[in-house]
Formats: sequence, C-alpha cells, structure tokens
Amino acid sequence: MWDRRDFLDIDSLSLQDIGLILKCAEIFENYSGRGNKLEMCRGEILVTAFFEPSTRTEKSFEAAMYVLGGDVLRHHEAGSSREKGESKIDTLHVLEQYSDIIAIRDPEVGMMRSYADSLKIPVINAGDGFNQHPTQTMLDLYTIKKEIGKLTGLTVVFFGDLKYGRTVHSLIKALRLFGDNKFYGVSPKGLELTDVYTGKDYKEIEMDDVTKIKPDVIYSTRIQKERMHPEERDNYSYEINKKFMEKLPAKTRIMHPLPRIDEIHPEIDDDPRFIPFKQVRNGLHTRMALLALMLDHEKEILSLSKKR
Ligand code: CP
Repeated sequence: MWDRRDFLDIDSLSLQDIGLILKCAEIFENYSGRGNKLEMCRGEILVTAFFEPSTRTEKSFEAAMYVLGGDVLRHHEAGSSREKGESKIDTLHVLEQYSDIIAIRDPEVGMMRSYADSLKIPVINAGDGFNQHPTQTMLDLYTIKKEIGKLTGLTVVFFGDLKYGRTVHSLIKALRLFGDNKFYGVSPKGLELTDVYTGKDYKEIEMDDVTKIKPDVIYSTRIQKERMHPEERDNYSYEINKKFMEKLPAKTRIMHPLPRIDEIHPEIDDDPRFIPFKQVRNGLHTRMALLALMLDHEKEILSLSKKR
C-alpha cells in the first residue's frame, strides 16, 4: 500500500514502494497502451515547476497527467514574475494554491526536503542538481526489468560523467536495494563516482575492460558541463560506437537518460541493444503510476488490472 506523501529520493523508499510503482506502471502500460484515456485524475491538477531545463521529465509528467484525465499547469522561469525578483519559495507557495501535486526540478542539491516541509501539497523531486533523479530511476528499473527480466544478479557498467550524473546516483542506490548486483565505472579522470556512492560492490575499470566483463547493462551519461567549475571543463572524449558494440554480447543493453551529446554515436541507433527511447516511453507509464499512487488512486489502478 502506498502511504507516503512525497517522493523525494531513493533513500526514503522501500523495496515494496518500488515494487508497487513498477507493478502499477505495468498495469498502465497494458491499459493506456491501447489508447485508453482514463478518468482517474479528473478534476486534479499537477503543477510542474522546473527551475532547470527539461524535455523528457517535464513532458512525460504532462503526458502522464493528461492520460490519467487530469490537468497540468506549467511554471517556466521565462515570462514569470521570477523575472521581477520573486523568490523561488514564494513562487512555489503561489503555485500550490492552484494545484493538487507538484513536480519540482531544481539546480540546488538538497532543497527538496525543505520544499516538502514548506508546501502543503505532495512534492515530487524531478531532479535536484547533481544529487538524485528518483523518477528517472523508476523508469530505468522498469526498463531493466522488462529488457533483462530481473533486478538482481546484474552486471552494470556506469559510463561517463559519474561525478555529476544524478541519474547514476539514484540508480545505483536503488539497485543496491535489490541486492546481488555488481557495478563497474568507466569515466574520464576527475569525473569518477564519489565515495558517497562507491562500495565493495563497485570497481573502476577502463573502457577496454568493458567487453571482457560481458555486462547486462551499460548505463551511459553525458558530461554535465553546466555543473562543473570552469577549470573542470576539459575536452573529454569517449564514445560508444559500432566498433565497440561488435565486441559486446547480444544480452547487453545500452541505456542513457538522454539528452545524449556525443557519447553514443547515432550509427548504433538501429541496434536492438540500444534502448534509450524505450526508456523514454517507459517514463510515461512509471510517472502515471507515481502520480496516481500519490493522488490516492491505488485501488482504482489495481481494479484496472482485473478489467483486462
Ligand atoms: N532524462 C531527463 O531527465 O531528461 P530531461 O532533462 O530532458 O528531463
């Protein structure tokens, strides 16, 4: 049973919570995948307050709310009274007057708890700086489960900017909850995973070693230049391309939260092992599940599964 008001980080979730989100996402995929629009959230309003750019997270939250029958208000910095100097917290207090639930993206690490304490409506962390991106993790777990068939006994390589990549931070924490998973990191010097996220189950390796360990998943990220000090902004160069893919087994899946910049060559886009756009699609159903659970529609979701 879902009994949490907010969705702020992986640390405050149990295996049962994650299991319920994934189960409800599957119900929604089977149901809305047939073009069914629902009435479940009719009369309810989601507000998206993104203080950082987004394509996937914002749009999938919007799409999720529309398919659930609800409405969406979007806050964008440009054109808002933030340009007159209104504070972020005052802006959020205004937005909560018009809505039932809020998804916030913020460049500052660790602000979600204070927003949740201050606001009277449920708060979803849609990404906080280089810290975490827990809703991305739900769609990543859902994708791994669908593609590989399990969430334990996996060999996962994290590839790219592991220092600032918040999707990596959330995913490694979540996969640890499932247990018996092995993690490897391949990153440019200076962008290694920090001690907060490493552990006995984690090892740094070189790009050439990746093919030898036959990973189930290679989870790639872009270089997060916007989070770096100017002196850190080196010309990093690493790429997953056709030559690299030829050495990987058929079971390996290449994942990426997107946007990609130049770390995965488009020449592999037709390879069935390249699955970032499946991740994007799965984001719709996992965010539908999250919104509907947080808005107290668990029984209605479970009753959909009986209708099938
Ligand atoms: N994956 C992800 O968070 O993408 P956006 O930044 O476009 O939302």
